[in-house]
Amino acid sequence: MQAIGQTGLCVILAQKSTYSIGESGLGNQTTGANSARQGRSLVVLMIGDIFGKPGRRALARYLPEVKATHGVDFVIANGENAAAGVGITPDVAMDLLGAGVDMLTTGNHVWRHKEILSIMEDNRRILRPLNFPPGTPGRGYGVYQSTNGARIGVMNLQGRVFMEALDCPFRTADQLLDQVRLGRDVDIWLVDMHAEASSEKMALACHLDGRVTAIFGTHTHVPTADHRVLRQGTGFITDVGMTGCYDSVIGMSAVSVMPKFLTKMPTRFEAAMGDAMLCGALIRADATTGRCLAIAPLRMGAGLAESHSF
Ligand SMILES: [Fe+2]
Ligand SMILES: [Fe+2]
Repeated sequence: MQAIGQTGLCVILAQKSTYSIGESGLGNQTTGANSARQGRSLVVLMIGDIFGKPGRRALARYLPEVKATHGVDFVIANGENAAAGVGITPDVAMDLLGAGVDMLTTGNHVWRHKEILSIMEDNRRILRPLNFPPGTPGRGYGVYQSTNGARIGVMNLQGRVFMEALDCPFRTADQLLDQVRLGRDVDIWLVDMHAEASSEKMALACHLDGRVTAIFGTHTHVPTADHRVLRQGTGFITDVGMTGCYDSVIGMSAVSVMPKFLTKMPTRFEAAMGDAMLCGALIRADATTGRCLAIAPLRMGAGLAESHSF
């Protein structure tokens, strides 16, 4: 995997003229140099919020097996909770990228450790939500190349319902998709929608159906069972869940969290330290059409019950 040149909202498309240009989102026909991609499917793994040391351990333990078993071509992971449960540091980011993750998305906790600013500008393999206000450090999307030559766009957005009032994620996505088009500038477009409300994530999915390959929800740390391919060919899941310890309150030890709910007294949250799961979702995408062919949740390790074990 390598990053293709990119600054701010502008992707440098050195190879743009090489490809036939499609104008209508999913289903574009391709010719010429792009014909090498025809019929080629890609497997992408989206890993949910990696929470502290247990989450990082689960990643290291299970990711190689998942990649080998499913022939994964590209791995995205949300790393906003990777450093002790809140935020991410440069060392932790490098650990995750060295463990087989191709690029990292983040969310509302991205700036918790200010050291991350030192790599956010220069390292194209880590994103922050695109709809932070203009002037915010870092970048909100990137275009990457998988080992088999497909151009993969990744966009990181953050919701606004029950969250900080950032710029509109819907209009921000529209603006970017006008500039970086599926079938012309990228072969597949992937979105991490980091949001609290399921309604907002589903609304974004309806809004972008047919214009991106897949939308993965993150942030709640609870996996949902609504994975599906939408009418116009976009894969969607409201939340891929947490890569961390589920014997907890969304990753924090229950003992450390309970005073907040029982007495409203100030308390210091601490990351739970039990066995952890790797949680995420796999998609199979057609690199020629940009369509999602299939989507499936992925859960590895101890924590959540099997869906059929009743
Ligand atoms: Fe999170
Ligand atoms: Fe979050």
